Amino acid sequence: MTPTPVLELKNISKRFGGLQALKNVTFDLYPGETHALVGENGAGKSTLMRILSGVYSDYEGEYILDGEPTLLRSPADAQARGIGMIHQELSVLPELSVAENVFLGRQPLTPWGSIDWSKMYRIADEELGHLGFEINVKRPLEDYSLGIQQVVEVLRVILSGARVLIMDEPTSALSPAEVERLIELISTLRQQQRSIIYISHFLEEVMRVADRITVLRDGQKVDTLKQEDTSVDHLISLILGREVNATLPSATEHEDKQTLLEVRDLCSDAFNHIDLVVGAGEVLGLYGAVGAGHFDVARALFGMYRVDGGVIILDGHEFPQRFSASYAIKRGVAYATESRRKSLMLEEANYRNITLPHLGRIARIVPNRKREVDIAEPAMQMVNVQPPDPHNAVGKLSGGNQQKVAIARWITFPPKLFVVSEPTRGMDVGAKNEVLGILRNFRNDGFGVLVVSSEPETVLAVADRIIIMSRGQIVSELENQGNLDKDALMRLL
Ligand SMILES: Nc1ncnc2c1ncn2[C@@H]1O[C@H](COP(=O)(O)OP(=O)(O)OP(=O)(O)O)[C@@H](O)[C@H]1O
Ligand SMILES: [Mg+2]
Repeated sequence: MTPTPVLELKNISKRFGGLQALKNVTFDLYPGETHALVGENGAGKSTLMRILSGVYSDYEGEYILDGEPTLLRSPADAQARGIGMIHQELSVLPELSVAENVFLGRQPLTPWGSIDWSKMYRIADEELGHLGFEINVKRPLEDYSLGIQQVVEVLRVILSGARVLIMDEPTSALSPAEVERLIELISTLRQQQRSIIYISHFLEEVMRVADRITVLRDGQKVDTLKQEDTSVDHLISLILGREVNATLPSATEHEDKQTLLEVRDLCSDAFNHIDLVVGAGEVLGLYGAVGAGHFDVARALFGMYRVDGGVIILDGHEFPQRFSASYAIKRGVAYATESRRKSLMLEEANYRNITLPHLGRIARIVPNRKREVDIAEPAMQMVNVQPPDPHNAVGKLSGGNQQKVAIARWITFPPKLFVVSEPTRGMDVGAKNEVLGILRNFRNDGFGVLVVSSEPETVLAVADRIIIMSRGQIVSELENQGNLDKDALMRLL
């Protein structure tokens, strides 16, 4: 006897104004199953999950929960029916203790109506133990890594009664070791007969966790496959619907590489004694686990992280001890942060987000909308922002397309030095290559690029040299001439 699916979606269609985000999509999920959902940026994955979790109720098609046609009216409604969403931007409160976060809003009470702290600590401790984590639940959550914070969020969703857990790109901000722990956690959840929907652009990971995989393309379902009947390459061809050209523009040799950036003995509360050099026409990779301090070094080069000592010299000019982001831009530094939410104005149009750092150059006195659009449009085309309308608000783009806008900013007026943290986070296989290709072209044109990342694949793909940071210190420096692999980098952390 085949078991009844926990949920079934039949012929789901969803429009946003003139845009057909989903068309006749069918999807089902069985108890104890991990069902992965993959597809290009903008394929409709998050939209489908928002329907599943009660965010959107205006769609066509049928939603069948435990065999019954259902209309969920809100996320709270979905939660009450056992469907929980793990948000990528975690909804934890870092200053509160681990235990308080586990129970957020549902703290156990004593018969007298006050919070039952000892019960709360005990249950949080036991439940985390069941999931394989030994953590001091009285300590503030912010003392723990992002990976642990995510585990706490998972536990909270489970304790609120979730049988179905939706994870939308859960690993994109985790270090490799944390990804391993999440994969173990998923297998524990599966043994508890919970069902998981797993969205990711990391197809190796998908092949490890999923029982079945559904591929979406342009809002339509391409296929649902059993894990054992497919492979990473097969998935890529289904996702893109064409062959992918994975080769980057080749790296041209530069005669006498001039030093562009020199950093000496840079110190702050997050890193110490950082010495590094980026040549004109060179990509330097700065690699470390999440929390190693490498992202803060990037911020410091843009005047956004307070340093206590050290020297930054760009193109022969020494920066003052304190400087602003606009000073850094004037000197020729561009910076794209790892968190797109922080760098984009989600309510504003794409073109405005792209021209923002350059307004002084484009229109000295009054903003000139037409010029801005003329500048933004080709930049959007170069990174293939979909849909390509410059007047669209950035907030309406899919996650990966928002990231492309953040990169497109720096194409028209290339800086001398481009500092970019997690350049391909959240991007699909095709878009990753496009962006890495753009960085390679910056380099070939003689600019300097500093790629800061916790994804070994990213630095290995584009960097000429790789500096590895651990606990705020540089621990090694390697030439990257095709002789390194992921394991080699991770061993040095
Ligand atoms: N609130 C919205 N208003 C208008 N259009 C939207 C809205 N949300 C999503 N879209 C559009 O619907 C399409 C599907 O977006 P969705 O976020 O589901 O993609 P995704 O598969 O999750 O992509 P990604 O991998 O980049 O996260 C995209 O074209 C997107 O621009
Ligand atoms: Mg998405």
